[in-house]
Amino acid sequence: MTDQELLDLARAAAERSYSPYSHFPVGAALECADGTVFTGCNVENAAYGDTICAERTAAVKAVSEGRRDFQRIAIWGNSREYCYPCGSCRQFLQEFNRHMTVICGRGDGAFVRHPLSEMMPFTFDF
Ligand code: THU
Repeated sequence: MTDQELLDLARAAAERSYSPYSHFPVGAALECADGTVFTGCNVENAAYGDTICAERTAAVKAVSEGRRDFQRIAIWGNSREYCYPCGSCRQFLQEFNRHMTVICGRGDGAFVRHPLSEMMPFTFDF
C-alpha cells in the first residue's frame, strides 16, 4: 500500500470522528507488518480530558486484536498544518515500534513522513 492509500484510509476514518466539542475530526490508519490496517478516529467526551485521539484508537484496536507489529501510521486532519501526533500519542506508539513511519496529512491533501524515532527521541521507557 502506498503512503497516499494509507492516508486516504485515515481521511475516511475521520468521517467517523465523534468531535462535537473541538469540531476537529482526526483519522488514523495504522499498518502492521503483513499489511493489515487498523483505522481510528478521535472520540471526544463531555469530560474533555477523557477524549481519545485517533492514533490511540487505532493502536488500541490493533493491540486488542493481538497485533503489535506496527510499521506505519497515517494521520489526517482538516488543518492548515500537517496533522502531527500529539506527545501522548507519540509516547503510546513508540511502546510498540519506535522506528515506525509516521505520515502526517493536512486539509489540502499534502503530507510529510518521518520516522517516529526522529519525532520523539529520548522517550520514556524502563
Ligand atoms: N487529536 C487527535 O485525534 N490526535 C492528535 O494527535 C492530536 C489531537 C484530537 C483530539 C481532539 O478530539 C481534537 O483532536 C482537538 O484536539
